[in-house]
Amino acid sequence: MNRTNVKAPPLQIKGIMAQMVFTRSLSVAAELGIADQVANGAESIEILSKNLKVDREALGRLIRVLASQGIFRFDNGIVGNTEVSEYLRSDVPGSQRNFARMMGSQWMWKVFNNLEHSVTTGGSAFGEAFLGSDNLFVYFQQVNPEAGKVFSQAMSGFSYAFDAPLVSSYDFSEFNSITDLGGAEGRLLKMIKDKHPDVKATLFELPHAVAQAQKSDTKQQLEFVTGDFQQAIRPESDCFIIKYCLHNWNDSDTVKILKNIKNSMRDDSKLLIMDMLITEDDSQVFEKSLDIVMLLLLGAKERTREEFAALLDEAGLKLNRVIDTPCPLSILEVTKA
Ligand SMILES: C[S@@+](CC[C@H](N)C(=O)[O-])C[C@H]1O[C@@H](n2cnc3c(N)ncnc32)[C@H](O)[C@@H]1O
Repeated sequence: MNRTNVKAPPLQIKGIMAQMVFTRSLSVAAELGIADQVANGAESIEILSKNLKVDREALGRLIRVLASQGIFRFDNGIVGNTEVSEYLRSDVPGSQRNFARMMGSQWMWKVFNNLEHSVTTGGSAFGEAFLGSDNLFVYFQQVNPEAGKVFSQAMSGFSYAFDAPLVSSYDFSEFNSITDLGGAEGRLLKMIKDKHPDVKATLFELPHAVAQAQKSDTKQQLEFVTGDFQQAIRPESDCFIIKYCLHNWNDSDTVKILKNIKNSMRDDSKLLIMDMLITEDDSQVFEKSLDIVMLLLLGAKERTREEFAALLDEAGLKLNRVIDTPCPLSILEVTKA
């Protein structure tokens, strides 16, 4: 007998509302570092709770609810990692531990408490959360640098898996110089440079990000330029890349950034925008949920192909073609109009 018809509408609603339990539980598990604790082998709940200095029974219940989603194994009081919870470890490539910590963090939930404000006004709700700043990035820099560090590492872990599919989806061999705007620690550029050692690869970033990236450029593959793409962009380049940045900005700021890029482009330069493309159908659960996070945190958005084309047009640029890739980001190839 099928007693749990997941398609029944009331159950669908209950299931969606219960996801808050999984989100927060997963985040607390990531914060506690449970996956790291059992990285070398399964452990009893007694030992785990002693090591973590938490209540044994409550920890067991937390792990039990996560195990119901395939996160951790929990058999006869013994906790182990699954293929999924392995990615909550701190030391694995592509770790999602900091993404889980960030999405369930206290500050994030305070902002989420104000979603009504975003829906009513169409703008960010960050200021409504009374976190000591109206702006997410100022909050990280001036109020809560620890949260800023978790955010940077979360972003890095989040887009880690996108770099290889993006690099293999485009032929960069025609370029002598490539500049990655807002390229964080320069991982994408290093991957391009590994494939095309002769290209001049420049990372254009804010001062704190350049300082961090310089430390990690152990093979000295990159050039560094400190700057603000809201002000002006240097140097001239055959190719500019802006990956996973424009979704952080509202339409007028995005046009401003695009105009600044255009001013640094020669007539034959190309701009590659690497971003998610939203479709207007009912697919893309993940992309459409991130769109709400962008609205809430920054008054920004994920965009459709048509929305990008309109902003490019306003900035005096032209969308040549869109290249789909085996990751959630597409490559929009752009030239001067
Ligand atoms: C969401 S992250 C994307 C990072 C990277 N491109 C990736 O795909 O992982 C946005 C990046 O833009 C940089 N950024 C933000 N504002 C900037 C500005 N005004 N000028 C230059 N870079 C900026 C941040 O430092 C951050 O590294």
